[in-house]
Order: sequence, then structure tokens, then C-alpha cells
Amino acid sequence: MPYALPDALGRLSLDHVAFRRALNVLDRQVNAIAQFKAPDFDILNGLLRYLGEYPANYHHPVEDEIYNALKMRSAERAFEVVQIEREHGEVADKHERFAEAVSRVLADAEISRQAFCQTARDFIAAERRHIRREEGLFFSYALEHLTPEDWEKIDSKLRRSLSQPGYGDRLKQYAKMLDDIAAWEQADLQATG
Ligand SMILES: [Fe+2]
Ligand SMILES: [Fe+2]
Repeated sequence: MPYALPDALGRLSLDHVAFRRALNVLDRQVNAIAQFKAPDFDILNGLLRYLGEYPANYHHPVEDEIYNALKMRSAERAFEVVQIEREHGEVADKHERFAEAVSRVLADAEISRQAFCQTARDFIAAERRHIRREEGLFFSYALEHLTPEDWEKIDSKLRRSLSQPGYGDRLKQYAKMLDDIAAWEQADLQATG
């Protein structure tokens, strides 16, 4: 039997692929700093902006919808993954600390290389762990318990937001970011030969 992910979950999964790619590029920038090389602040700031804005505005709201539907279908499973959904706030705090560290470096304020790298890696590790836990538990439970009607409700809400004025244009800006990420991946590959 053909197996397809519901639209909303397909989109979230594609987002996760993009986040992982962004985190890999970010990781290489942080490694460069750790090795006393100069980072590319356009890349750092671009990725920080993407990983700060896009999940909060376009990714987490869809996860919230799915979580609310899971609560209705299986309170037990929802309770099991409530901590994963609460991680959004913790990951956002770590993102903020990383962004502050970048601003401090740009402002020539005092911050040790080690402290900078630790702050950056805290965020990267927390985001990666969050994505892994969502895919391993939360998404699996949603697939197991949500009904076709639940998915249709979530998908039609998603379609409605896509038709809101300006929403599509804003999404296009983030799609452009994915082109930048692809170019940075290419540059990293060439640099490591
Ligand atoms: Fe999430
Ligand atoms: Fe997610």
C-alpha cells in the first residue's frame, strides 16, 4: 500500500531537513572559530536569523496544531511528548544567547573564544536533539493516533494561512535562504576538498 505523510507532517519533515542543513553549516563556522580562523559573519547572522524566525513563525504553529489534536486523541501519548513541545522555549533561549554572543564579537566586546563556541554549540546541540525527539516520538505518535479528519483540519488551516496576504511572499524570502544555504554548503565542500 502506498504510504504518504499527511501534508502538514511532510512540510514539517522538509523543514527539519532544512534546519539540519543550516545547523551543519553553522557548525562548520563555529569549528572555524574554534580553530582560530575568521568566521563569515554574513553566514552566521543569516543562519541565526533563519533559525530564529522561521521555526517560530512557520514551523512551531503547525506543531502546536498537531500537538493539540494528539491531546484529543491520546492524552497519554500527548503527556509523554509534552516536554518536547516545551523545548521550543529552551531552544529559543539558547538561540538568543548565541545571537548575543555574535553581537558581542561584532561590537568588539570581551568574550572568550571558548565561551563563544560553547554558547554556539549549546544551541546547535539542543536544536538537533529537539528535531530528533520530534521525529522519533512526537511525529510517530501523531501518525499513529490522528485521524484523516484531524489531518484534513490541520492541512486546511495551513492552506488558509498560505492564502493570507503577504504570507507567501514571506515564505519566499525563507526559500531564498535555502539557496544561500546550498551555496554555503558548496563553498564548505570546496574548502574541505
Ligand atoms: Fe519543534
Ligand atoms: Fe520541529
